[in-house]
Amino acid sequence: PPAQSMMLLRDFEEWAQRVLSETAWAYYRSASDEEHTFMENQDAFRRYFFRPRVLVRDMSTGSTETTFMGIETSMPVFISPAAMAKLGHPLGEVNLTRAAGDWDIVQAISSNASCSVDEIFEASSEDQPLIFQLYLNKDRSQSETLIRKVEKLGARAIMFTVDTSWDSKRTLDSRAKAPTSADASSATVATLPVNRAISGYQDRNLTWDDIAFIRKNTKLPIIVKGIQSLEDVEMCVSHGVEGVVISNHGGRQADYAPAPIDILYEIRALRPELFEKTEIMIDGGIRCGADVVKAIALGAKAVGLGRPFLYANGTHGEEGVRRVMEILHEEITNTMRNIGANTIEQLKPEMVGPAGPWVG
Ligand code: FNR
Repeated sequence: PPAQSMMLLRDFEEWAQRVLSETAWAYYRSASDEEHTFMENQDAFRRYFFRPRVLVRDMSTGSTETTFMGIETSMPVFISPAAMAKLGHPLGEVNLTRAAGDWDIVQAISSNASCSVDEIFEASSEDQPLIFQLYLNKDRSQSETLIRKVEKLGARAIMFTVDTSWDSKRTLDSRAKAPTSADASSATVATLPVNRAISGYQDRNLTWDDIAFIRKNTKLPIIVKGIQSLEDVEMCVSHGVEGVVISNHGGRQADYAPAPIDILYEIRALRPELFEKTEIMIDGGIRCGADVVKAIALGAKAVGLGRPFLYANGTHGEEGVRRVMEILHEEITNTMRNIGANTIEQLKPEMVGPAGPWVG
């Protein structure tokens, strides 16, 4: 069916499961162990509802435009860095780049992208904001070269991913690669295919000192991605980083890591001053405009989506990615205006609360 007949981001997911290769579906959809965090990322959003206000302002005009990390964007949404877009579509990440360019959306390029950074920058339009996601190499001199290269190409920030110092068992992916009964008889523990979530070059020895290493090699703002606690947001602030992405890697690393929207709510309740000290973003489980609006109202500067873009790229290529942006834009606009805001600045924490009656 045509991209325009997709009405929800979930429609793309449903089609992706039908049409993607088994390998691509298993890799994209995978989450770790029993997938509690994967489910919780989405379930947690259903525990927050709006407190709409009416008759407050003229809703015939308005905008979803905003700025984060000094970048102007058409809505507070970015493409989270994800490896291997070519598994879903032969043109890979370049489809995301072209759609993001048309929509003025920030794309974070994965260290493990299937297109080269040169190809991705080549596909971008003039001044299109691209962020580079960095996995640190055991050989720091290679990381140094890479950081300098992407800065020269025009990257607008370095997004340092810190939640993958160790492997995880990505269950669906591991099942897809598991031995069949035909070869089980000859398999020993040593020969069983282990799902390597982490590329061989990635360093397992990451510390807070690595922020200084990145700082030494670039003038670009640093965003730390993969923060999973209020305490580590504070650590980021004390290390002077310009931005953090509260993320559990889409439920692909520690199972039972908490939902990012809950950490965001915790910060809002306990340490609201942190929102003034660094730009806080979240990703994981965002599947509709209302999810975006909840996070922004609670204080996030922007939110990232991973799988929805991969699925749409897999089913409809660039046109699918564009449709995802169109759906999000429509849903964000509708949600904002229906709860009493026609600009991003007008979204306030009081507009969101736990589901159920408020008697406090
Ligand atoms: C990812 N993610 C990821 N993160 C990162 O920093 N570097 C990477 O290379 C990848 N690769 C990757 C591949 C795939 C297939 C997925 C699904 C995810 C994590 C990603 O940036 C993001 O945190 C999650 O995808 C957010 O969750 P949702 O939106 O997929 O629910």
